[in-house]
Amino acid sequence: MCGIIGYLGNKKVSEILLNGLKRLEYRGYDSCGIATIEDDKLIIKKGVGKIDEVSKFEDFLSANGHIGIGHSRWATHGGIIKENAHPHTDCKGELAIVHNGIITNYKELKEMLIKKGHKFKSQTDTEVIAHLIEEEINKLNKSNRSNISEKDYITSVKNAIKKLEGTYSLLILNKNFPNLLIGLRNESPMILGIKKEECFLGSDISAFLEWTKEVIPLEDGDMVILKKADGNKGNISNISYEIYSIREDRDITPKRKKLSIDWDIETAEKGGYEHFMLKEIMEEPEVIKNSAKISKEEIKELARDLKKYNRIYIIAMGTSLHAGMVGEYWFSKLNKLVIPCDASEFLVKGIVDENTLVIGITQSGETYDTIKGIKYAKSKGAKTATIVNVLGSTATRIGDINIMMGSGIEISVCATKTYLSQLMILYRLFIEYGKIIGKNMEIFEREIENIPKYIRNVIGEESRSNIKNISESLTVKNYIFISKGINLPNALEGALKFKEITYLHAEGMSSGFLKHGTISLIDENMDTVALVPPSSSDLFNSVVSNIEEIKARNGKVIGISPVYIAVDHLIKIPDVIEEVSPFIYAPVCQLLAYYKALELGRDVDKPRGLAKSVTVE
Ligand code: G6P
Repeated sequence: MCGIIGYLGNKKVSEILLNGLKRLEYRGYDSCGIATIEDDKLIIKKGVGKIDEVSKFEDFLSANGHIGIGHSRWATHGGIIKENAHPHTDCKGELAIVHNGIITNYKELKEMLIKKGHKFKSQTDTEVIAHLIEEEINKLNKSNRSNISEKDYITSVKNAIKKLEGTYSLLILNKNFPNLLIGLRNESPMILGIKKEECFLGSDISAFLEWTKEVIPLEDGDMVILKKADGNKGNISNISYEIYSIREDRDITPKRKKLSIDWDIETAEKGGYEHFMLKEIMEEPEVIKNSAKISKEEIKELARDLKKYNRIYIIAMGTSLHAGMVGEYWFSKLNKLVIPCDASEFLVKGIVDENTLVIGITQSGETYDTIKGIKYAKSKGAKTATIVNVLGSTATRIGDINIMMGSGIEISVCATKTYLSQLMILYRLFIEYGKIIGKNMEIFEREIENIPKYIRNVIGEESRSNIKNISESLTVKNYIFISKGINLPNALEGALKFKEITYLHAEGMSSGFLKHGTISLIDENMDTVALVPPSSSDLFNSVVSNIEEIKARNGKVIGISPVYIAVDHLIKIPDVIEEVSPFIYAPVCQLLAYYKALELGRDVDKPRGLAKSVTVE
């Protein structure tokens, strides 16, 4: 799971690459590097650390060419050392490669290449690709590399790629072809950005959104060939792109549709907040309005399918799975069974056939396990749908129905506003389905307008300062988040947010389950965050009595409650109907995690060891 960017045009390439890498840093950030071609020389600069540090230390900006590739790494094969940072090269140092994904047969390939005399410098699976292409070029038997034609070089690349198994988005530079940049995609994201006289290839649009909003999302098996017609005319360039299908063995350029993106880069800036996470939480009321409008037809269509199918799964990972779990509670209120399932377990336990409907929820649209689950469902003849935020991402192209979330770019690794959007899409689906089966859903429909107001209440200055004070008064290292009913997924999500950015231990569970083991841990060193159901809920008293049990064991309780209750710290929230309550508890938990992490001096937007988009198994 890494970020890649490639450029061919007339601007100073190192500036474009550095900028793009910073935008992609959320995808992985343990090391980074760039390769450019200048005066027929291949220049590689790379190192371990964050992009700002490495780019300064290695002086990225001293590279002056107009063609290049860059990479931000999140280690999967080989430790976090300079040798394993991308780009990787062949023996002769003519080729440079950056890669996102995993080559599953790299060990066999590496053994074969070593036998043929190739010398490896890293422990990565990626380096195999550089040597494999080199090996294909060697087969051309040209002692002078400058005698190799462009056509032969491209064929060598194709032949090498056909030997790879696994997932990849790849960018390839060859110093003997200083006007040619090749990109390949197979189950890892890659988008082509086009503009007059320059082209970009990136893991996502944020890598080059500042320069162009015209994009072509590539499909699995695509090979893009970017070419500069005449590289000898200084800054005057004439760039062309060609898309070739490795699988179909033919040019498919006209088949790939151009899209115009309406996001602008300002939406990706921090907008005055200290962190993207806080900025994105503060955007929630606006974002939720968007999500309340988007994909109308698709939601109706999916609601009709909900009626048609009796076996329905929601598959997702992380925060998206928690949104799916809230969905389960909503549908259960309409007597509809919808099973949320950890996408990484779906192939093991999912019962899938043509009578099954599988809904994948994924903000990034690239989460490996979720994509794999949807593809699996399709292969079994199931109907599939996706709920996704990133336009042009893989998930937007593989579902039978594709519902956009409309959250805008989310930069912080922690999903916050996109979780709220996912909830809104599922809430609308609940309403549509209810209408289809003849229920009166007016009360829920009316609440759509009020939800932004409720959220504004809990993220407003007064509430924020209360949450901040409470978070700063918490001194223990262990936390339990509990609830009952529709906010149980929010307790799980609250614990997830808390641990991922504070690095303090937190777990979520139902307040009922607490008594079956975990309660033995309750003492003055284990605090409990209780999400108390709305006062109109049948579950209110039950959670309140669970709180008493915790207090009886000297446990400190932070209550997120719609009414006054006797707890050590109270975060008061609007008292709304149960069905609407998930929208309100979620931002409170996000802020609690945020302020605690801030106080502890954590890297809030880039927590250690995590990545926003997990594109590996
Ligand atoms: C990673 C992110 C989480 C996210 C999960 C699923 O773990 O850090 O914030 O919830 O992936 O991502 P998706 O893009 O599929 O929603």
